[in-house]
Amino acid sequence: KSGAFTFDPGFMSTASCKSSITYIDGDKGELKYRGYPIEQLAVNANFLETCFLLKNGELPTQAEYDAFETNVRTHTMVHEQLTRFYQGFRRDAHPMAILVGVVGALSAFYHDSLDINNPEHRNIAAIRLIAKMPTIVAMAYKYTVGEPFMFPRNDLGYAENFLHMMFATPCEEYKPNPVLARALDRILILHADHEQNASTSTVRLAGSSGSNPFACIASGIACLWGPAHGGANEACLEMLNDIQNQGGVAKIGEFIAKVKDKNSGVKLMGFGHRVYKNFDPRATLMRETCHEVLGELGLQDDPLFKLAMELEKIALEDEYFVSRKLYPNVDFYSGIVQKAMGIPVPLFTGIFALARTIGWIAQWNEMIGDPEQKIGRPRQLYTGATTRDVKPIAQR
Ligand code: SDX
Repeated sequence: KSGAFTFDPGFMSTASCKSSITYIDGDKGELKYRGYPIEQLAVNANFLETCFLLKNGELPTQAEYDAFETNVRTHTMVHEQLTRFYQGFRRDAHPMAILVGVVGALSAFYHDSLDINNPEHRNIAAIRLIAKMPTIVAMAYKYTVGEPFMFPRNDLGYAENFLHMMFATPCEEYKPNPVLARALDRILILHADHEQNASTSTVRLAGSSGSNPFACIASGIACLWGPAHGGANEACLEMLNDIQNQGGVAKIGEFIAKVKDKNSGVKLMGFGHRVYKNFDPRATLMRETCHEVLGELGLQDDPLFKLAMELEKIALEDEYFVSRKLYPNVDFYSGIVQKAMGIPVPLFTGIFALARTIGWIAQWNEMIGDPEQKIGRPRQLYTGATTRDVKPIAQR
């Protein structure tokens, strides 16, 4: 009987699993990929090294890195038939809707030849996803703006290639700004994995039934899309734009008052976290990246950036947020820096998905490779009607 059980809301969202990939200490604000602190990876490694680390458990030697990068680089094109899926979407489709569809459709191109119990096949699937996600995300953007798809180029690095596919046109040479490419590479590192967050748990649950990895990653994209999760960077920028349009810094007090009014349903987007009850270490690194990019682009007086810093300062001194241990999370500055880089707002979460694909595939791979793995079956606490008899409709 539910009366005999003190219902713990966390009960429904807590699923336990063993993993050796990512460690978070929410109270200390620590994040480590395979034991390496995120602060060190963001400075001393690039995104492909981080992919190798998350997938294989160790940072690559130079020879291992060169082989891995070549393998990824030579799988960046997508099957020509896959490009036809884009034609089925309206031009104003949200890029995340396109990604859910197109990544799921990859199953139709590789599913029948993939034995997920074969580690080599799992490795091939991982390389294909790491390699093709930038191409698929850039194509989603090009489709919505009516420009031709740009092919990946084998003479460019991972982040540069993505920027080229996003912003180049067949009409003229486009050279990605190396400072922006490095900033994007760091943004991808910061978003690569994050333990058992909602979308990773979705991928694990989908994968536990034996579904192919492409369909599982598509389920992770669907979950990440939500504004409480990966969609928060887009929602955070919209929030900053709203405050700016209503008067900017002078209107912060009014906005904070709305947030405190529970009936308003207004949240301070980019703040708070299920695990971090201290600073999200990624938020600090994201703020630094933001400074660098705005400085490189001569936008250090960007009004949204100034507004965000003032909003962060006021919130960090406000009892409502302090008492609830609400600190900036990875999404608070990521929207500002991506907007400054010219990335359209609807694509922010698509880039989060691009980055998180390696985390999803590493966690999926770890689960499938665990001989003790069973199909996921979250428990429920039944709070419905007790047993009763069905009466014929005339007597109801
Ligand atoms: C990501 O899990 C992951 O690791 C996710 C992620 C990843 O890398 O995968 O880190 C990425 O999703 C980051 C989070 C992005 N989301 C947002 O920024 C949206 C705004 N944040 C909130 O929706 C919220 O903070 C959550 C969902 C992120 C966390 O919610 P919790 O931990 O369940 O906290 P809660 O909802 O229980 O809040 C505790 C209190 C409540 O007030 P009281 O009921 O105690 O009075 O804090 C309040 C909440 O109302 N609160 C907020 C708030 N977040 C929590 N109030 C205003 N603004 C907020 N942002």
